[in-house]
Amino acid sequence: MNITNSAAWKAIETHRQSLSPVHLRELFAGDPERVAALSLSFEGIHYDFSKQRLNSTTLALLLELTREARLVEATTRMFSGEKINVSEDRSVLHVALRRSHAPFPSADFDVMAEVLPTRQRMAAFADRIRAGQALGFTGLPIRNVVNIGIGGSDLGPKMLGYALRSISHPALGVHYVSNLDGAQLAPLLQTLDPRTTLFLVASKTFTTQETMLNAQTARDWLIANLGDAAAVARHFAALTAKPERAVDFGINEDSVFPLWDWVGGRFSLWSAVGLALMIAIGPQAFGDLLAGAERMDEHFRTTPFERNLPVVMALIGIWNTNFLGATSNAVLPYNESLKYFPSFLQQLEMESNGKSVGIDGQPLTQATNPVVWGELGNNGQHAFFQLLHQGGRLVPCDFIAAVRSDFPLPGHQEALLANCFAQSAALAFGKTADEARQELARSMPPAALAELLPHKVFVGNQPSSTLLLSQLDPQTLGALVALYEHKVFVQGIIWGLNSFDQWGVELGKAVASSILPAIADPSLAAKLDASTQALLAYSRKHLA
Ligand code: F6P
Repeated sequence: MNITNSAAWKAIETHRQSLSPVHLRELFAGDPERVAALSLSFEGIHYDFSKQRLNSTTLALLLELTREARLVEATTRMFSGEKINVSEDRSVLHVALRRSHAPFPSADFDVMAEVLPTRQRMAAFADRIRAGQALGFTGLPIRNVVNIGIGGSDLGPKMLGYALRSISHPALGVHYVSNLDGAQLAPLLQTLDPRTTLFLVASKTFTTQETMLNAQTARDWLIANLGDAAAVARHFAALTAKPERAVDFGINEDSVFPLWDWVGGRFSLWSAVGLALMIAIGPQAFGDLLAGAERMDEHFRTTPFERNLPVVMALIGIWNTNFLGATSNAVLPYNESLKYFPSFLQQLEMESNGKSVGIDGQPLTQATNPVVWGELGNNGQHAFFQLLHQGGRLVPCDFIAAVRSDFPLPGHQEALLANCFAQSAALAFGKTADEARQELARSMPPAALAELLPHKVFVGNQPSSTLLLSQLDPQTLGALVALYEHKVFVQGIIWGLNSFDQWGVELGKAVASSILPAIADPSLAAKLDASTQALLAYSRKHLA
C-alpha cells in the first residue's frame, strides 16, 4: 500500500494548507497550553517540540498514519523475531542485546541463550584489562586498546566512549581507527607500545576492506616490534559474526566474541561491537547503558502513540519532510561530549531510510530520509547558524543538551544552556522589521536606519525540537540512542521501506575493487570511464 494514497495522508495535506501560513509566533500567542501539549518526558529525557510548525490537530492527523501503516503489527513482528529484513532474509533483534532475561523473542527461538553468555565473556575480558590482569606477549599488562572497525563497527562505541569519558578508566587509552588513510593509524601507532597494546578487530562480516587493511597493518607492526607471530594471540581480539574468518586471521578462538546476522551493523553497539566501550566504562556502566535502552524499548512497545517519544519524533520528521518540504535535518548537540552524535545519527538514519524503493520493490512516490547533518551547536553558532537564521531555507533542527555538566567549570554550564535555549527561540520567533526598527532608532539616524534595517530582520519560523537530558549518564544515553533507533523504525514503516538493509553501499565497494589494480597497471584502466582514467593518470604521475 502506498501511504500517500491513504485518507490520512490526504487529510494531513489539507490541514497543511491551512496551517502553513501561520507563523510560530501566532501559534504560541494563540495557545497558552501549547508547550504543555507539545512536550513529552520519559525518565531522564525531556522532549519539547512546541517550536515545530504544527499544533495538536496536526499531531492527531499524523497519528492516523501509524494506523494506516499498521505500526502496531509491524512492531510486534520486529519484537517477535519475524524476518522483517526481507531483502536479506533476516530477523531484526538488536533489542535482544539489551535484555536481561531469557527467553527472547520466544522459547522456540531464544537468542538470549547466546546473548547472555557472550555478555558475560565480554565482562570478564573487560574486567581483566581494567584490573591490569590481561598480560601481553612480554608479560606487561595491556594499557591501550585500539578498536579497528568502520561504520556501525566504529561510530556507536566511539560516540558513546567520548560521551562517557568522564567515567572512563583513567589509566587505559581506548582509541578508534576506521579510515583507510594511513594518516589515522600511523600517528597512533607511533604513540603506542606494542607490548601493552590490544587491537580489537570489529567487523560483522570480517571482510570490510578498510578494517581488514588496518588490522593487517597493525598485525605487521606488532610482529615486527615483538619479533614473533605468536604475539598476535595475546594482542588481538575479534568482534564478528564470522568467527572462522577471525581465526583464519590468526586470532585466538578464546578472544573471538560473536554477534549474529540479526544484528544490523548500525544497531550493533549493544553487542560485542561495544567491547571497547565496555573496557573504557566498565561492565557495570555498560549494563546501565543497556538498561536505559531496554527501558526505551518498553516505552516504545507499550506506550500509547500520542505519548510515545519515538513515534512522535518520527511523525514530526515526516511532517517536516513530506508536508513542509524540508530536505535536511540538523542535529545540534550543545555538550562537547556529544561531539560524535551527529555522525552516529547520519549512519543510523541515512543508511536505514535513505531509500527510494519500497519493501515491495516498487518505487516510492514520497520523499524519505532527509540529509542528516550537524555539529556541536555552540561551535555552529559561530559558523553556519547564519544560514539557519537568515538563509531562507527550511532546516528543522534537533537541539540536544544535558542539563548537568559532566565536566563542571564555574559559570560554563549556565552560559551553555542559555545559548542553546536562545538559538531555538531566535530561530522560531525571529525579529520583525518593527522590532528591529525600534531597536535601531535608539542609536541611529533615520537614513542609516533604513539602509541597515533589512539586514536586521529575522523571519523566524524555523522549526526545532529540544531534547533535554538530565545528565550524560549511561542510562540516559542508552535511552537516547534507542529513541532514535525506534524513530528510524517508525519512519521506515510509514514510508513503506526496509530500514535494515543497505544495498546502496555495495556499488561503490565493487567499483573500488575494479579501480584498485588499475592504479598500478594502466592497461587495466582502459575499460574505466574517461574521468576515472584521467584521475588515475594524474595520481600515477604523482605517486611515482
Ligand atoms: O558498508 C556499509 C557497512 O556494511 C555498514 O552497514 C557497516 O556498519 C559497515 O559497513 C561495517 O561493516 P562490518 O562490520 O561488516 O565491517
